Amino acid sequence: MKLKGSTAVITGSTKGLGREMALAFAREGCRVVVHGNDAERAAQVREECGGCAEVFLGDIAKKDVAQALMDFAVEKTGRLDILISNAGVVRMEPFLEFKAETWQLLLDVHLSGAFYCGQAAARHMARLGHGGRIIHISTIAAAFGQFGFTAYSPVKAGVEALTRVMAVELAAHGISVNCIAPGPVWNDMLENLYGAERLNERKRTIPMQRMAEASEVAAAALYLCSPEAGYMTGQVLHLDGGASAAGPFTMEVYKRATSC
Ligand SMILES: NC(=O)c1ccc[n+]([C@@H]2O[C@H](COP(=O)([O-])OP(=O)(O)OC[C@H]3O[C@@H](n4cnc5c(N)ncnc54)[C@H](O)[C@@H]3O)[C@@H](O)[C@H]2O)c1
Repeated sequence: MKLKGSTAVITGSTKGLGREMALAFAREGCRVVVHGNDAERAAQVREECGGCAEVFLGDIAKKDVAQALMDFAVEKTGRLDILISNAGVVRMEPFLEFKAETWQLLLDVHLSGAFYCGQAAARHMARLGHGGRIIHISTIAAAFGQFGFTAYSPVKAGVEALTRVMAVELAAHGISVNCIAPGPVWNDMLENLYGAERLNERKRTIPMQRMAEASEVAAAALYLCSPEAGYMTGQVLHLDGGASAAGPFTMEVYKRATSC
């Protein structure tokens, strides 16, 4: 119960990585605000958290919603110690056909959402004077020109840059800001995007030959909120089985090129 008495807002926690983090933080005694845009799933996650969770629904791409979410957390629990800006959507379209609406959607949800949530949460944390931890969720694709990711890669790169700016400005308030950049995590978001066959191929390009487990992302988030990570801020933690270390090389190409 390392986080007993703390309050965490986890955006996009009705499923996927966010849900896994909500459950992990609840197990550590944290009061969790489950957020998303699906009431049924949100109620289910609240139930799974075992009575220490609240639910708030709304489109995180809207400034007023982000503000109301943070206000809600403080009204319900009297504090706001942790924000994990996790809500996200992925769209793939070839660059030449990439739609302006798709660009705007990803920009609004990922980058504006992280800004709106981060600012509203940090204002509460600074006012309440208890410091805080803010975590953004990026992706290893922020550093690569991946096919179809005309918007996804740039907005996630923006989220990483926002992490550094916030870390610098908020250190004086005892607020740390870090980012987790996972490699692919096999879930329905990814399966809908690529299909199972291509995901299996993708696995073989990763040095550890497997994808991340959602529980491993949750463990990294718990670490970033622990006293042991008290001196860490402004960092992007790659959690990718060695994929970013290998860069653009697939294991097959890498082995051939280096004759090993
Ligand atoms: N799955 C992966 O392989 C992977 C890898 C790297 C990074 N990520 C990132 O991790 C985060 C979570 O991804 P996931 O795979 O768990 O996705 P998911 O689709 O399983 O869950 C996304 C969550 O975000 C919420 N959401 C989306 N748009 C929203 C909006 N406008 N307003 C409110 N809620 C909204 C959904 O309700 C849901 O709860 C995303 O930021 C994603 O970019 C995922």
